[in-house]
Amino acid sequence: MDKLIITGGGPLDGEVRISGAKNAALPILAATLLASSPVMVRNVPHLHDITTTMELLGRMGVELVVDEKLNVEVNPTTINSFVAPYELVRTMRASILVLGPMLARYGESDVSLPGGCAIGSRPVNLHINGLRAMGADIEVEGGYIRARAKRLKGTRLFMDMVTVTGTENLLMAATLAEGTSVIENAAREPEVVDLANFLISMGAKITGHGSDTITIEGVDELSGSEYSILPDRIETGTYLVGAAISGGRVKVKNTRPDLLDAVLSKLQEAGGKVSTGEDWIEVDMQGRRPRAVDIHTAPYPAFPTDMQAQFSALNAVAEGSGTITETVFENRFMHVQELVRMGANIRVEGNMAVINGVEKLQGAPVMATDLRASASLVLAGLVAEGETVVDRIYHIDRGYECIEEKLQQLGAHIRRKPD
Ligand code: UD1
Repeated sequence: MDKLIITGGGPLDGEVRISGAKNAALPILAATLLASSPVMVRNVPHLHDITTTMELLGRMGVELVVDEKLNVEVNPTTINSFVAPYELVRTMRASILVLGPMLARYGESDVSLPGGCAIGSRPVNLHINGLRAMGADIEVEGGYIRARAKRLKGTRLFMDMVTVTGTENLLMAATLAEGTSVIENAAREPEVVDLANFLISMGAKITGHGSDTITIEGVDELSGSEYSILPDRIETGTYLVGAAISGGRVKVKNTRPDLLDAVLSKLQEAGGKVSTGEDWIEVDMQGRRPRAVDIHTAPYPAFPTDMQAQFSALNAVAEGSGTITETVFENRFMHVQELVRMGANIRVEGNMAVINGVEKLQGAPVMATDLRASASLVLAGLVAEGETVVDRIYHIDRGYECIEEKLQQLGAHIRRKPD
């Protein structure tokens, strides 16, 4: 397994371009299944999860053409299998996103149950209940969700919990249902909005996306379109924390400052000077040590759970003490034990981590346990004394495009050691 070798040192300084958002690209690629003609998706990030999704669609008979700029042309009409097999779903939970569109368009869909996950149990009951409420016949047997429906029927769908992929699955399914669907307590994440805009570009009738009530008037057919994925706000936030943690200055380009209000306000509270333009953000912490901040994760527009591990690393070297309260997922403090091995002072009490900043972390061999946990270990390695070796970086390759090249561009001493 590849490793990242990081020698801690000076501040990050420079500019970096942000890629398309993984969490928008995944549902949008799944949503191409709804179309009756080829679709062109642009600004698709080059990530392992995207390759897995393309492999999944390819196994179903869908034709994909990828150019060197990562524009992906999808021809969904060649589909000849309606199964998402275990060996692919187990490597990427988001494979569940093909369930709704496949069922709505072709009337059948067999998707392996994703199973457990390192950051909590992450059930899919709300996806299943919603599709059942739309008239689908669903059995869960042999580790598979087997869904059948002649034509789904629009209905009122109340979500018990705010779920991002749950909202997306039902939103996609409702576009081709008969009649009107209303998703209440819907996720408001920008990636849900991007998916809705993509569906609209194919002819779907959707209003209210970005609020907690989304209304979808079903149509008979969706046709292919051309769409460019929005920038990745989590990748954006991660490089900005890189500036703050290292006492440096980073300008991220090709991004959207309006998607990061909660994160930018915490970076300011930590002492960073934040400037923004239409498609760029700069954080300047030159010559200063960050101050610890308190973080409380919750669905958008509150502070994203996908940024809490990076702020744990920031607090670990900050002045004072800060808390991280995780309310979205159980068991999302896997990075804490690794940070402690690097000399961080962190105590976990239930769903809260209390972090007392230390002057310096020490480089150590550490293990990536999930995607965002790995990002926090890389950030810690950038400012630790000596060498940090981050093992199992396939986690990071699932969500960060060319992370070592981008960090090298900012002056970091980081290299990949292939196994
Ligand atoms: C998505 C993101 C992930 C992010 C998360 C929360 C993608 C591909 N992934 O994951 O990066 O960390 O949102 O912002 O977009 N739940 C249920 N029943 C369900 C569905 C969810 O109880 O049927 C619970 C989960 O266990 C969790 C909470 O709802 O506690 C939120 O999870 P959810 O929003 O569904 O996360 P994902 O969509 O899997």
